[in-house]
Amino acid sequence: MTVTDTPAQAVLPGDDPSWLLRETGYELLRESTFETRFAVSNGFLGLRGGLATHLGACRAIPPRTYVAGLFDTPTPDSAVPELVPAPDWTQVRILLPDGPLMRCPDRSSRALTLDMHRGLLFMEARQTCNAPLDVCLRSLRLVSLDARAVGMQVIELRIESGVSDLTLEAAFGPTDFELAPERAELDLKAWRTWRSGRSLAIAAAASLEIDGVERQPVARGDLIWTWSWTAQPGQVVSFRRVVAVTRHHGTDVHSGARARRELAAARTLGWQGLIARHEAAWAERWRRSDVRVEGDEGAQAALRFAVFHLNGAVNPDDPQVSVAARALTGDDYRGHVFWDTEIFLLPFYTLTWPEAARTLLMYRFRTLDAARAKAARMGWRGALYAWESADTGAEVTPRQSVGPDRKILDIRCGSQEQHISADVAYAVWQYWQATADEAFLREAGAEIILETARFWASRAEADPDGSRHIRGVIGPDEYHEDVDDNAFTNIMARWTIERGLDVAALLRERWPENWDGLSGRLALDAEELSQWSEVARTIATGYDPQTGLFEQFAGFSALEEIDLAAYAGRSVPMDVVLGRERTQRTQVIKQADVVALLALLPEVFSAREAEANFDHYEPRCGHGSSLSRAMHGLAAARLGRPETALHYFHQSAAIDLADTHVAISGGIHVAALGGVWLIAIFGIAGLSLRDDGPAFHPRLPASWRSLAFRLQWRGRSLLITIDRDARVFRATIESGSSMPIYFHHKRYVVSSDHDIEIPV
Ligand code: BGC
Repeated sequence: MTVTDTPAQAVLPGDDPSWLLRETGYELLRESTFETRFAVSNGFLGLRGGLATHLGACRAIPPRTYVAGLFDTPTPDSAVPELVPAPDWTQVRILLPDGPLMRCPDRSSRALTLDMHRGLLFMEARQTCNAPLDVCLRSLRLVSLDARAVGMQVIELRIESGVSDLTLEAAFGPTDFELAPERAELDLKAWRTWRSGRSLAIAAAASLEIDGVERQPVARGDLIWTWSWTAQPGQVVSFRRVVAVTRHHGTDVHSGARARRELAAARTLGWQGLIARHEAAWAERWRRSDVRVEGDEGAQAALRFAVFHLNGAVNPDDPQVSVAARALTGDDYRGHVFWDTEIFLLPFYTLTWPEAARTLLMYRFRTLDAARAKAARMGWRGALYAWESADTGAEVTPRQSVGPDRKILDIRCGSQEQHISADVAYAVWQYWQATADEAFLREAGAEIILETARFWASRAEADPDGSRHIRGVIGPDEYHEDVDDNAFTNIMARWTIERGLDVAALLRERWPENWDGLSGRLALDAEELSQWSEVARTIATGYDPQTGLFEQFAGFSALEEIDLAAYAGRSVPMDVVLGRERTQRTQVIKQADVVALLALLPEVFSAREAEANFDHYEPRCGHGSSLSRAMHGLAAARLGRPETALHYFHQSAAIDLADTHVAISGGIHVAALGGVWLIAIFGIAGLSLRDDGPAFHPRLPASWRSLAFRLQWRGRSLLITIDRDARVFRATIESGSSMPIYFHHKRYVVSSDHDIEIPV
């Protein structure tokens, strides 16, 4: 039997390079970067992807499988909960009688290939030094997008030459003492977190075939299998393992029964059926969310990579969790959820996967009580969301950290970075605009908006000068702490209060019973609403009518100016170059702040003010956060500067795709990837959401010949094509009823039998 005839070999990476991410060779020091970049995830399970162990190599970071929502506080005195890695279910050792098989692998032959269209990760490597077996090793991994509890691994070994006894041991890696064993059986193990009362169960099945004939293991323990045989030239050995992983509350006495059921269902499908279902689920996601760019291969690759990770980061069936700053791909930020989700990711989900967007917003609804408690504890009304959130919604930002100079520094974001409460409301409103999901608005969204509006109305202090001030905050630019009247925070707060008033009016008019119930429950009366209006009217914004600039916060313009161009070649962030204290006394900005406002609320600025603010703040920004370039690119595109936007687009993508900006061993920067999509769709295609339909104002960079993508709008699927060669903007309804769209402010109606084609 030849290699290509064997079943697992039938599963090979596709041959269209635009869907593949490939890396050849092996270098220990870059391995943790690959483990992140080649991670696969389905929003419940996340599996880092280096596969170095098969080469007998040591690893920078132990193998990691993350399970969404499996939080624990690691030690009794450790301050905050973190995501606990699950035991490594991919562990395999292939042994000769006197040691590892792969004792002299040809490192240059190692190739990692991520087939993004099918959500499959492939690895191959060879050993050709006759020691004593020459072999070719291939592996395949997936975490199923169809059945999110399920993971699968295939390892295939082809013996090229030599004869020797071989043993293959498949076991589960240690849990780093992070989980307490609870149950161990032949096909199932369960663990419990030490403190948070959660448990984890894994059921697994494994098999080994030699030349297509199944072999029974010579030994079998709890989720451990051992096979031994004599390897001969030409032999093809296929090892397969399927696992089903479930997360439970510790009190659930049936922990494990569900894992067994999920495993049984997966086994019924058979491994090829399992792959087929997984591929079909990915094909459906790509059908809805692929973005095609002609003329710029790098941009196409960046969008595919971004959309791949965005689709893999979320689980539409689990409102217990949201997407962490590193999704399920690395330890950094401990699995905590930030504004990254609402501002950088939600637009993608809302417009391509509304079911997933709803689930993420339901996480914020579920944690609304914790946000109310935080506001009350700090002396305000309404809901103040946690800056960093984990499973309960309680504030989990660490209070201290170790700075780059190895000194312990205080972190004040947990108490002062409050714009999160406007960011959540922003995402709720955007979802409502794009979906008109009345049930969501009535049952959850309205309450989030009203409670965050109430927070801001109570937070803004009245002053004798007649205006309201929000004092003692941190804006997106975290280099400056304890500032007053951060323009981003204040204007987003004003916007939230205004939407609160809109929601109150909408409910009162359309669903009076809902309004009576909700306003009664929240004790929200007409007097309070009129106080909100007064706050919205009088809130300080730092606007200077002379220059058209919004001062980033009170006193910002008096700080020392630093010429960032003089530091152009630096490889560390500006707060490391200047030191933390000095940075605080300068106008150096960590990330888009007024520029983020330009990106999110462009209507606040006249065209002249938008230019003035961008040109003022852009050169002051050190881009010390991976989120920064996304907002700059989006704002630049809106200003009609597509080449600047494209520059930020590529820089944002490079954070995870090139090794130039930041180390990515701690996980992918999913917000920056969301930013890549945002720059393309909201920036370059110029999308904005109006009350009755999407509006487009495209500005393609010179290299882009065309841009095509799909959006979901209130139950319809809309295909947008901007074709520079054909000089046309086209909108096609693929499913659903007719709807209005706007192109350069002009209204058109597109229907299923009538595409809109507008010459450009
Ligand atoms: C940024 C925040 C961001 C967080 C997580 C920080 O460095 O300043 O804006 O939310 O990283 O990505």
